[in-house]
Amino acid sequence: SDLEKFITALPKAELHLHLEGSLEPELMMELATKNNIELPYQTIDEIRKAYDFSNLQDFLDIYYQGMNVLQGEEDFYALTMAYLEKVSGEGVVHAEVFYDPQGHTSRGVPFAEVTNGILRALDDGREKYGVSSELIMSFLRHLSEEEAFATLREAEPWFDGRIIGVGLDSSELGHPPSKFQRVFAAAREMDLLLVAHAGEEGPAAYVREAVELLKVDRLDHGNRTLEDTALTETLAQSGMTFTVCPLSNLKLCGVPDMKEHPLRRMMDAGLKVTVNSDDPAYFGGYMTANFLSVAQPLDLSKEDIAQLCRNSIAGSFLTEEEKSVHI
Ligand code: HPA
Ligand code: ZN
Repeated sequence: SDLEKFITALPKAELHLHLEGSLEPELMMELATKNNIELPYQTIDEIRKAYDFSNLQDFLDIYYQGMNVLQGEEDFYALTMAYLEKVSGEGVVHAEVFYDPQGHTSRGVPFAEVTNGILRALDDGREKYGVSSELIMSFLRHLSEEEAFATLREAEPWFDGRIIGVGLDSSELGHPPSKFQRVFAAAREMDLLLVAHAGEEGPAAYVREAVELLKVDRLDHGNRTLEDTALTETLAQSGMTFTVCPLSNLKLCGVPDMKEHPLRRMMDAGLKVTVNSDDPAYFGGYMTANFLSVAQPLDLSKEDIAQLCRNSIAGSFLTEEEKSVHI
């Protein structure tokens, strides 16, 4: 369609993407066979049928099971290259991607194999597809503070610019940002950039904690921020960037219908909103699909869509000089 071509042509950055969530059923089957991993599915169709979620935890159970097929450095390389190839055709000029090292080290896959496989693909993808990128390591919030600290220590050799920041993901309810205040303070001391998922399922109070206690540089999701008017005003004033993921919110039943999605209300409240895909292999689409999913239901104009794309470049961790190439 005309709108699809318009969206694809706009230079944009993806700022909320879990690499493990870009594992397509085809690659999952291929790696399961190669690595002799038993899957509870026989066909691609069966896999896709299992992607029917009522909430975040429903999804996470399937997501952690899916990532079991990722075993060696080559698997993480293939996963990352497939993502970059896909989005390079959608106008993504820059991607700041997450991965969940604890989802792999807990299964006996060494941190270095995971990380180096991803980094080698990010380097090759820059050459092959012209997509610049950065890597952010996420802590699993359902695990302990101590386990997060151990992961932070294990990652230290890569804090020379190869891992640029830390994030916080997994089961939100019952695991507030405050649980990781000391971990994030330590990461800040190491000059890492800080992001955290907050206000996806959790209340606005979790968004406030991410900002005030963790001191995040960027907020992932943040949909429920609007429930706190004072906080919304503060974050509009401070220019906080929000990485919103429409198809994710729909698939995880955070919104009953795209017409009810808060993206437009967040924009109208003066928040710097971006559109992202979160876990595109599980939620039904990459960047263009996410833009298209909200364009009509929220009556977004072409100028609104262009603004969302500019926000993604401006809200990235690129230098001002690097941003100026794309805006
Ligand atoms: N929310 C929390 N944790 C996650 C997500 C998400 O959307 N995707 C992968 N891990
Ligand atoms: Zn996410």
